[in-house]
Amino acid sequence: MTKFDFSKRDSFGSKIGVIAAAAGSAIGLGNIWRFPYITGENGGAAFLMVYLGLIIFIGIPLMLSEFVIGRRAQRNPYGAFQILKKGQPWYLVGLMGIAGAFLILAFYSTIAGWTLEYLYRSITNGFSGKSPAELSTMFSDFQAGGLWPVMWQVIFMFLTAWIIYRGVRNGIEKYAKILMPLLLLIIIAICIRSVTLEGAGDGLRFLFKPDFSKITSSAILEALGQAFFSLSIGMGTLITYGSYISKKDNLSNTAISVTAADTLISILAGIAIFPAVFAFNINPAEGPALVFITLPGIFEQMAGGYVWSLLFFLLLIIAALTSTISMLEVVVAFLSEELNLSRKQSTIIAALLITILGVFCTLSQGPLDSPFLFGTNLFGVMEYASINLLLPIGGFFIVIFVGWFLGKKNVRDEISNHGTLKAQVFGLFMILVRILAPIAIAMVFLYQLGILG
Ligand code: PHE
Repeated sequence: MTKFDFSKRDSFGSKIGVIAAAAGSAIGLGNIWRFPYITGENGGAAFLMVYLGLIIFIGIPLMLSEFVIGRRAQRNPYGAFQILKKGQPWYLVGLMGIAGAFLILAFYSTIAGWTLEYLYRSITNGFSGKSPAELSTMFSDFQAGGLWPVMWQVIFMFLTAWIIYRGVRNGIEKYAKILMPLLLLIIIAICIRSVTLEGAGDGLRFLFKPDFSKITSSAILEALGQAFFSLSIGMGTLITYGSYISKKDNLSNTAISVTAADTLISILAGIAIFPAVFAFNINPAEGPALVFITLPGIFEQMAGGYVWSLLFFLLLIIAALTSTISMLEVVVAFLSEELNLSRKQSTIIAALLITILGVFCTLSQGPLDSPFLFGTNLFGVMEYASINLLLPIGGFFIVIFVGWFLGKKNVRDEISNHGTLKAQVFGLFMILVRILAPIAIAMVFLYQLGILG
């Protein structure tokens, strides 16, 4: 077996390519499917404020930490910790990240598959003349069918694998550079439509006028989980992408730009969805079904609904695809660098194994829906365990590693590109990753498990 040739390691070709790829990873179903309903369930604007605070004080430092680890080591998450702290158990954090990518992609591809079905239904005018109750039955019948959702999931995984097989520069970067601008255009168009609906004002007030009585400890937990999930942090995705970033790029600026882009898209998704929800008198706390049941109902009543629904589901597909490739890349980078498999072999093996687990997730939402653990089905267990357990634990160890173990000089070198950049906020960054972020993550995590409070 030939060893992986690290001198020929693939990388991103341009600054804008890095931002497109990392923002592509961050911007996904988390922004357009999850953010609006989580915000809806947790009181709107007040939740948004907490979310923004967490993004700034924990999200950006953690993202930057991942870039620092990845670029310094030039390896997949497992190999990165091995290189930076040889012989110490830090590599377990890397392995946990790779496992996280595997698990998240398995259930994420279930929902990604649904988006393909809904695009197909938009094209064939499948929502036409359906009442809200019928749309709801339509969604549950679709899931109960089993075979269709599985087929769409397999197609989505195939698309993901195909891009990953093409490589970092000719696959991930190339497609991100095409798809991300398209995504922005579509979401802006939908926002304009939404805010010009009669009665849109209530939706905007819901999103932007805070009512702090809504801030409970569980809302804060939800906000942290959402921040990690949405920014793709805590599991090594951005260690992997960081390892492909050129030594000349400015890591802090990249982390800030990617976070800003991700947050902007979440807010735009809120602006696209809530005015429509309020204009048509629907409860904003509809839960996960918001985009698959409520929105088709709204498009049905809207002038030009055919086109809007088509655009909306296309938007979801693009968002999901640039995220699924980032998860698959984590596993593929690990397999090819550590087990000396070719990129082709790694891609096939990783995609196949993830799809098999993913199919069970999909079926657990339909024909095989039965309690798997704590009364929750397989899909629910995997979503909960990866978002609320693996990501915070991973994030905690990543900031601790960069804050206390990587060495201040190494961190400064990486952030300042060996002194060529100014790194003005380095002191603040160190305080955040050493003290504030770990304490905040630990507290939120312990509350969540019921150990504190
Ligand atoms: N950030 C992606 C989203 O918002 C999901 C994701 C999580 C991607 C973790 C990669 C890693 O949809």
